Amino acid sequence: MPDLLYENRVEHISTLLWDLLVFYVKSFLYICEAFFLSLVPTKYRQLKDVKNQVVLITGGGGGVGKLMSLNFARLQARVVIWDINQEAINTTIDLLESEGYRCKGYVVDLANREKITETMKVVRQEIGPVHILINNAGTVCCKPLWDLPEKVIENTYAVNILSHYWTVKGCLDDMIENGGHIVTVASVAGMLGTYGCTDYSATKFACIGFHEALYTELRTHGHDRVNMTLVCPYYINTGMFAGVRPRLMPMLEPQHVADSIVSAVRKNEVNCVLPDSVRLMMPLKHWLPAKASWEMMARVMKGPNSMMLFKGRGRVAAG
Ligand SMILES: NC(=O)c1ccc[n+]([C@@H]2O[C@H](COP(=O)([O-])OP(=O)(O)OC[C@H]3O[C@@H](n4cnc5c(N)ncnc54)[C@H](O)[C@@H]3O)[C@@H](O)[C@H]2O)c1
Repeated sequence: MPDLLYENRVEHISTLLWDLLVFYVKSFLYICEAFFLSLVPTKYRQLKDVKNQVVLITGGGGGVGKLMSLNFARLQARVVIWDINQEAINTTIDLLESEGYRCKGYVVDLANREKITETMKVVRQEIGPVHILINNAGTVCCKPLWDLPEKVIENTYAVNILSHYWTVKGCLDDMIENGGHIVTVASVAGMLGTYGCTDYSATKFACIGFHEALYTELRTHGHDRVNMTLVCPYYINTGMFAGVRPRLMPMLEPQHVADSIVSAVRKNEVNCVLPDSVRLMMPLKHWLPAKASWEMMARVMKGPNSMMLFKGRGRVAAG
């Protein structure tokens, strides 16, 4: 890496001016590229070929994970799913088999570090090195902090963020050598603190930090063959947030989210915010005074009121 401690001030200023010039020129080109690509329909884009690639999806037994499994299978990928729930794994396997695809499932509690590390090794032996890792599983309890049991807080952290360290560590060497793709499923709740989600929101903020920091590390050390995608969806109609009635926008449909994630992976997109309009609204949080942001959240969006309707799946999160 170039040394940043310059001997004299003139050298410091001249290199800074040069770097700024390169930055402006490259940024202009990248903005043009992004604008152009946004106009090109997906069917005319060059997409990553995932045929025969090992795609590991955590939480693949339900919701978006199950639909992504089918999408990847249809693209001839070798799909591996992990889930805490054997029955859920079976429904995904049956779904894929009904279309003539195979899928391997492993029961893994993502709160258990040893089990994750051990199963990563088993997958490598039985299937092969993982090419695409989708850290998708998540858990939510939705209670204000004073009602949130300690065990639930710990479990939310273990599943929603700590597991990402152990899964990535289990396949990063292979990805650095062969190329690969790490997908982090965060949430809009990781961009905006959400009522009843001191644990959930905090872990999703951490997912974003994890993605950005690892992206920096990989690029800095020239591991450009490892791609990364951060996914931040708004509410999805999978049942995870059952009962919640958002005021301004309807929940996203799970199939649309699964299709968008697979498409983002195949386009090597670094950020995937769903819906796209949220990306435009988010800066308001930083520009508006805090009291105005609160008015927006509580009066216009009625965020806390809608979250108070949370029923979820009617079970308390494990832990
Ligand atoms: N549903 C939403 O409104 C929404 C919104 C934004 C982001 N997300 C995120 O998207 C991802 C997928 O959400 P979804 O709606 O499909 O969820 P889901 O609840 O429908 O499915 C999650 C799957 O993860 C599994 N799982 C839960 N805990 C586990 C554990 N400890 N070990 C292994 N597997 C476990 C579940 O059995 C389930 O099959 C999650 O990370 C979630 O936080 C969801």
